[in-house]
Amino acid sequence: MMNQTESLPTRVRAARDAIEYNVPTGLAAPIVGIVLGTGMGSVTSLISDPVRVPYSEIPFFQTSTVEGHAGELVFGRIDSVPIVALNGRCHFYEGYSTDEICFPIEVLCSFQIASLIIGNASGGINPKFKSGEVMLLDDHIDLFFRTKLEPEVRDGLIAGDTGQTVEWSLFKQAAYSHRLNQWAACLADENNLVLHRGVYAALTGPNYETRSEYRFLKRIGADVVGMSTIPEANVAVKNGVEVCGLSTITNVANPDVRHTTSHTEVIAAVAIAEKTLLKIVSGLVGRHRVGDGW
Ligand code: HPA
Repeated sequence: MMNQTESLPTRVRAARDAIEYNVPTGLAAPIVGIVLGTGMGSVTSLISDPVRVPYSEIPFFQTSTVEGHAGELVFGRIDSVPIVALNGRCHFYEGYSTDEICFPIEVLCSFQIASLIIGNASGGINPKFKSGEVMLLDDHIDLFFRTKLEPEVRDGLIAGDTGQTVEWSLFKQAAYSHRLNQWAACLADENNLVLHRGVYAALTGPNYETRSEYRFLKRIGADVVGMSTIPEANVAVKNGVEVCGLSTITNVANPDVRHTTSHTEVIAAVAIAEKTLLKIVSGLVGRHRVGDGW
């Protein structure tokens, strides 16, 4: 019986074995991975011939306790490009470690995906942003302070006996792909869609921020704030995968207005954002067709 103390490659192998057992060979070579954030469940409607594998059948996958987060991997095709989607993610505020949160990303990367599209929900801090709009992540501010280190690197650093110099700059590289962002911006232009670009800040949650915290986030340069994505984006970049982040603004985080966001408002915002998300995700995936400039 394996447990969490097994090495990362061993755990990834075990998860892949369980997945490959359930997925036909033709689909088990995805080119694009997609993390379906809050309200992105409708992206599954784009997937042809879907094959679903519940997280409960995959070793070391955890199940989210958050409403609206299904727990399944979906393999299939969008616009004839093989993809794999994580339908449902776990959050730090649910009590999971960053290791557990990022494990599914390690597994997706082990399939040699070229790109990862990560969706999330956020509060809009930039006064020009409205709820129901979507922002492309140009950069992020990591207020999690918990970037995941490989145990080998961490242990080596602590023990100080590896004799190797650690390339710290590796952990500081830009997380979001210039190329994918250019494609997404063009798609928005061509389809007359509002697609903001800006900086995503992430805190661990679970609560939304106080007005003073929103004011602070605005002053340090954040355009939106959420509670996910950064650990996952870092892991994908570490694995050499290009990342595109799409944030659905579900509430306007205006520090000067006393307002509590209701669930109804969030649902309404998600419904407005759906059209933009479906166009951008399908367009981005379509650009990965062999022979289409890819
Ligand atoms: N803060 C943090 N996370 C969020 C918010 C917010 O205002 N809205 C949606 N996710």
